[in-house]
Amino acid sequence: MDSTTQVIAVANRKGGVGKSTVACNLAVAFALEGRRVLVIDMDSQASATATLLGDLPADAPTMAQVLIGQVALGDVIRETSRPGLLLAPAAKELTHAQLTIAGRTGRETILKRALRSLSDIDVVVIDTAPEQQLATVNSLVAATHVLMPFTPDPKALEGLATTSEAIAEIVAAELGHAQVLGCVQTSYDRRLGVTEDAREQVAEAYGSALLETRIRSNASFITCPAWHRDIFETERAERTSRRGSDDFRALALEVAHRLWPAVGLGDGIDEDKETARVEEEAAA
Ligand SMILES: Nc1ncnc2c1ncn2[C@@H]1O[C@H](COP(=O)(O)OP(=O)(O)OP(=O)(O)O)[C@@H](O)[C@H]1O
Ligand SMILES: [Mg+2]
Repeated sequence: MDSTTQVIAVANRKGGVGKSTVACNLAVAFALEGRRVLVIDMDSQASATATLLGDLPADAPTMAQVLIGQVALGDVIRETSRPGLLLAPAAKELTHAQLTIAGRTGRETILKRALRSLSDIDVVVIDTAPEQQLATVNSLVAATHVLMPFTPDPKALEGLATTSEAIAEIVAAELGHAQVLGCVQTSYDRRLGVTEDAREQVAEAYGSALLETRIRSNASFITCPAWHRDIFETERAERTSRRGSDDFRALALEVAHRLWPAVGLGDGIDEDKETARVEEEAAA
């Protein structure tokens, strides 16, 4: 891995707060800006794999085999239909793989060591599972940064705390050195009273880690895994509002400011080129 490669784990112990949605669409937004991006799916539910790739061939190697040491990371990485976006897929076998490695020495650092072989990637985005299992621990150990999505649900806020504690323990044990990149509110609905209360609580607990960008509540996200489409593709295909695309473009800019302050924001997404590509694909 190049010394400039950033590794973002998207994590929150609470289920259903938008981790996979954020991981996939942030990664796509970065790729649309011209960066080389690898998404690593570390959840046996394989939502990121469904969104970005669709059904895998039955014999395709996945992160489960990487964890147990059967296959190298480079051998599971696949191209997606999006220029610059690669995926290391997951499958339900990941659950069993975690049991297989449970007694092994170095079980928490398998992913971190696997990433060393990577080259030519600007940013790795890891989608993690809600459980604090070995796949999640491996993700937090491998990460340079952790992005934590949250909703106003008290359990989601508790999940932020649990995840922060896990990061602190990993740093204290000198297993990793991840920093909190930010907390991003998802399924944002300003009409709900609890929404602002939750933001205040997060601002109090995490200060400037609270990101300005909010991912607004938007039904278009729900169909993404089933149709194997990211939000940019979904909103173009549905010819509806670009709310979700706009939110993720804003999130990518805000995150880029934090990751690459000296480099700036890149050239932005080439909308015309992207529309032409999607229309070409739809016509094929
Ligand atoms: N901004 C949003 N507006 C509306 N629905 C959303 C939004 N973000 C995510 N969702 C929906 O909420 C559900 C949970 O989202 P997602 O799968 O991204 O969460 P998760 O944290 O990855 O869940 P898990 O913990 O099970 O992995 C999905 O159906 C998704 O489509
Ligand atoms: Mg998920």
